[in-house]
Amino acid sequence: MSETERVSFQLNGSSCTVSVEPRQTVADLLRAQRLSATPVGCDQGICGSCTVLLDDEPVRACLLFAPQLQGRSLRTVESLAKGGTLHLLQQAFDEEDAVQCGFCTPGFLMLAAAALEHDPLIEDDALDALMTSNLCRCTGYGAIRRAVKKAAKRHRRTV
Ligand code: FES
Ligand code: FES
Repeated sequence: MSETERVSFQLNGSSCTVSVEPRQTVADLLRAQRLSATPVGCDQGICGSCTVLLDDEPVRACLLFAPQLQGRSLRTVESLAKGGTLHLLQQAFDEEDAVQCGFCTPGFLMLAAAALEHDPLIEDDALDALMTSNLCRCTGYGAIRRAVKKAAKRHRRTV
C-alpha cells in the first residue's frame, strides 16, 4: 500500500486539505473530491480535455501529480459560473453551438478563460492559435473559435 501525504491548497477559491498518494494525478484527485466536470480523454497530456488552472496558468490535470498542489491555487471549470450566472465564455459557447458531445468543452473553456484573464485585449489571431492547443472530435473547431472570439469581444468592452 502506498504512503499518503497531506496537501493543502486552494480549490476553486476555498481552502482544501486532503491526503493524496505520491503519484495520484490531479485529474483523479478532482474525481475523489466529487468535481467530475473535468474530463479525462487521452490521459497523456495530448487532448487538453482535462485543462485546469494552476496559479492561473492552464495545465493538464492528467499530467500533474496531486502533491504538486501544495500551497498552490487550483481552479476547475466548476469555478466559472458565479451565483447561477454563466461565465461569458459559457454564454458564448451556448450561443454559437460550440458544444456537441461536450467532452472537450471544459478544457477549451479553461484555456480561453486563462487567456482572457492574462490579456483582456488579446487579439483574435492569438486566440485562434491558442485554440489549437486542445482537441475536439466533433465541432470542426469553427464554432469554438467563434465563441471564444465573441466572448473576448464582450470582455474587451469591460476593460
Ligand atoms: S486527458 Fe489530459 S491532456 Fe488528454
Ligand atoms: S464537442 Fe465533442 S469533442 Fe468537442
